[in-house]
Amino acid sequence: MCGIVGYTGGEQAKLVLFEGLRRLEYRGYDSAGVSIISPKGELNRVRVVGNLDALGSTLATAELHGTTGVGHTRWATHGAPSEENAHPHHDCKGDIAVVHNGIIENFVQLRAELQGSGHVFRSETDTETIAHLIEENYNGDLVEALRRSLKAVHGAFAIVAVHREHPGLIAAARRDSPLVLGSGEGEMFVASAVPAFLARTNRVLFLQDDEVLSVTPDGYAISTLEGETVAREPVEVEWDLDAAEKGGYEDFMLKEIDEQPRAVADTMRDKFDDSGGVYLEGLGVTAEEARRLRRIVVVACGTAFHAGLMAKYLFERWAALPVEIEIASEFRYRNLVVTSEDLVVAISQSGETMDTLAGVREAGRRGARVIGVCNTVGSMMTREVNCTIYTHAGPEIGVAATKTFTTQMTAMYLLAMLLGRLRGEVSDEKYSRVMDELKGMPDRMYEVLEDDAGVRAAAEKYHGCEDFLFLGRSVGYPIAMEGALKLKEISYIHAEGYPAGEMKHGPIALLDENVPVVAVVPRDSVYEKMISNIEEVRARGAPVLAVATAGDDEISQICEDVLRVPATMDMLYPLLTVIPLQLLAYHIAKSRGCNVDQPRNLAKTVTVE
Ligand code: G6P
Repeated sequence: MCGIVGYTGGEQAKLVLFEGLRRLEYRGYDSAGVSIISPKGELNRVRVVGNLDALGSTLATAELHGTTGVGHTRWATHGAPSEENAHPHHDCKGDIAVVHNGIIENFVQLRAELQGSGHVFRSETDTETIAHLIEENYNGDLVEALRRSLKAVHGAFAIVAVHREHPGLIAAARRDSPLVLGSGEGEMFVASAVPAFLARTNRVLFLQDDEVLSVTPDGYAISTLEGETVAREPVEVEWDLDAAEKGGYEDFMLKEIDEQPRAVADTMRDKFDDSGGVYLEGLGVTAEEARRLRRIVVVACGTAFHAGLMAKYLFERWAALPVEIEIASEFRYRNLVVTSEDLVVAISQSGETMDTLAGVREAGRRGARVIGVCNTVGSMMTREVNCTIYTHAGPEIGVAATKTFTTQMTAMYLLAMLLGRLRGEVSDEKYSRVMDELKGMPDRMYEVLEDDAGVRAAAEKYHGCEDFLFLGRSVGYPIAMEGALKLKEISYIHAEGYPAGEMKHGPIALLDENVPVVAVVPRDSVYEKMISNIEEVRARGAPVLAVATAGDDEISQICEDVLRVPATMDMLYPLLTVIPLQLLAYHIAKSRGCNVDQPRNLAKTVTVE
């Protein structure tokens, strides 16, 4: 998500912070800013909307002297990208500057309490709460004030703070968001990732959850939230700068595939209320309205369309609602009678896809309530829908969508469960069972990611093939479609995703020993039917690569290659089964020498019809 940098040392902080932010630009680029303590003990700040070029030109002429400061490049999660919402955030008096990466879940409550005791807020962000909390707890000791403040905070954070009364001091802390110290000669850096300072030092120290860091140009001290001292020495990293910008990964796509468990956890993080119920801010659908709903209409393009296709099964199963799912570019050509009794759900990572926007407008004109599922705060779509459910995937740089897909599905699980509950279709017992399982999915996703070697071996075996068929049933069908799309997009291999039962009505004619079939076949309610389809494939001599549940021995006896996922509930398998398919596409593309991050002819965001 956002990129944060703190510096204290002998050089002008303005230049060092900007250089650090440049290296973290991939983490966010909708607004940026720095705050620096001047030699006179003032705290001066510059913030701009836009990417770092905009900050660079403002800083070039800004009178911003001083050798201690903090900087931030933002990927909005609360509040549109604007100057007021850009970091750093200051307290009421302008003494304290705070930069933050993460989500403060209880910021609404904290803000109300702080406002009650006279604090004046100037932004819509969750981060500003921290600046005011530190102000409230400050008693001459910045690090202690930060420690006390964090006891009240729920959620994920990496925080770096400075106070104008303490030139040469940085206070920092983390929980569930990365934060790393760079230890130089007479200068220190604190940042969300190593590239921020790698040009200046390779001696790094990774902060752990619930640790507080106190940094001066010549030293640092780590302690726990309870104030106990922690002893840890920096280690040397052997990275070259280029690799480090991708966090050590060869490509953004692989990095983003690996980020999925974290992204899914972040997407869920702000979507539960104190009693554990799904809470989707601004949704505003009452139980009465939910019961009166006639239909859900889903509009989306590309990978987002596949998230919608998967969600069709959820809405039907959990909320007993009929679903129309439409590719956005075709939406306007249908005479879909959309009325105020329909709920339209538009899914778009960027929120700027022209066809999806046109669908949103068309639905709005016809009087439907429109919900956006979007990854980009302040994007066009979020301004035109009645409510936005944000996915918190962070910036996705690879053109082929990966982490934005699993986070879109996560948002759809929550929406479908909530509607099912409001409509009285889901019992308390089922609701808790599904939500508990969903909350555990990031851990299972990590397990799937561990088998990269198995996927690599399969890719090695099949990378020379020119046609692939992907098969699945039920929620496995959209995953087969997505697997085929990923392979097409980045390796330029012809691939088709098909409902397994439909194969015998056409694609079966294509099969021979040169056409591998990828079967999405977890141990779910359609398993037996999938096995029959796999037998049909084998009878035509085509090799079968299965994505199956761990411990399923039957499948190993009939398929050449098997990639495993842990067991889960039928409807939740897509969050797991898609991962081996993303990795398969990735490794096949790499072995064919393709540029996976920027595949030919494709654009990340398509703003033409
Ligand atoms: C393009 C991208 C896809 C993406 C689709 C929809 O085709 O290459 O990765 O799924 O647009 O984009 P959106 O931003 O609306 O989700």
